[in-house]
Amino acid sequence: MRAVIVSREETERVRQKLLFEGALDKTRRLVKKSGLIEIPVKESFAAEDLTLVEQEEPHFYIPKKTHGDYLDIPDSERKFLPAGWQILGDIIIISLHERLENRKAEIGKALLSFYPGCRTVLLDRGISGQMRQPEREVIAGGSTETIHMENGCSFKIDAMKIMYSKGNLAERKRMSKLGEGETVVDMFAGIGYFSIPMAVHSKPRKIFAIEINPVASGYLKENIKLNRVEDVVEPVTGDCAVATPHGIADRVIMGYLDAHEYLEHGIRALSPGGIIHYHEAVPEAIERRPVERIFAEAGKQGRDAKIINMRRIKKYSPGVWHVVVDARIAARSP
Ligand SMILES: C[S@@+](CC[C@H](N)C(=O)[O-])C[C@H]1O[C@@H](n2cnc3c(N)ncnc32)[C@H](O)[C@@H]1O
Repeated sequence: MRAVIVSREETERVRQKLLFEGALDKTRRLVKKSGLIEIPVKESFAAEDLTLVEQEEPHFYIPKKTHGDYLDIPDSERKFLPAGWQILGDIIIISLHERLENRKAEIGKALLSFYPGCRTVLLDRGISGQMRQPEREVIAGGSTETIHMENGCSFKIDAMKIMYSKGNLAERKRMSKLGEGETVVDMFAGIGYFSIPMAVHSKPRKIFAIEINPVASGYLKENIKLNRVEDVVEPVTGDCAVATPHGIADRVIMGYLDAHEYLEHGIRALSPGGIIHYHEAVPEAIERRPVERIFAEAGKQGRDAKIINMRRIKKYSPGVWHVVVDARIAARSP
């Protein structure tokens, strides 16, 4: 179990910050350790500016109960119980082993007793299609619309219809620190995963947030109002292959795993010296592919590309990584 380690003086400031961000694990106590303080955080928490440790002796407020304690099922099935789930606002999203399919209602009910602050449990059967739509089923509770708080931003979302990637948290945070005073184009905006935190925390001059799925775009428009960034984010409902403006962007975000089909539009959108954040799902064996694609497309457009950074965001599937490449695209030197 993870904790952030800080000096005594820093404890309260950092604890408040983690609480505000929804990252504090409230089931565990702060622990004094060799003159420092361990502040417990949720497993999904990631931060570049804080030291994270694996706690050797976590101190729980109450004996650590699991949702399994609320279930009367035989041990032969108990071992298939999921160890983790996603909490989006007040909605729990869980995947289940097929052996437990017939117990889904019980498990849903048990989770709601375990998380009294939650209203609905959704069974997730995967995400597919161009619009990355989840296939989900309500197994406890009712309404599936919620507001998820993250990094000081509010995201209204219908968890039945729209994905929200837990694994992209650190990348959303990283993007929130970029773009000050810039013109940005977010080509696969969704409900504003990147555009909203960037607008809230970095105040770009303008963000064109393009989204093809009218349902997601509807939530994007609501989230722009909810976070009071109407003066920065301009929502565009449509296909980024058509709607992406040419030659005006200081920064382009291509947060979609099949973005290679749109790379020409991403690069064409950039003004000389602009930066592209290009995402791809790539097998480990050919992890250079996204970089090669950027060089090839820039070359086709008579422009030079300089790779600033390439990072792994999360494991996408066995042997395949979700990566992002940051590249600066200059006009070709004469
Ligand atoms: C995976 S989601 C975005 C995830 C987000 N980057 C994150 O980090 O969580 C990709 C979004 O791109 C949208 N999309 C797919 N093809 C598109 C296109 N041609 N033009 C605009 N949006 C598109 C999908 O509807 C979906 O909402």
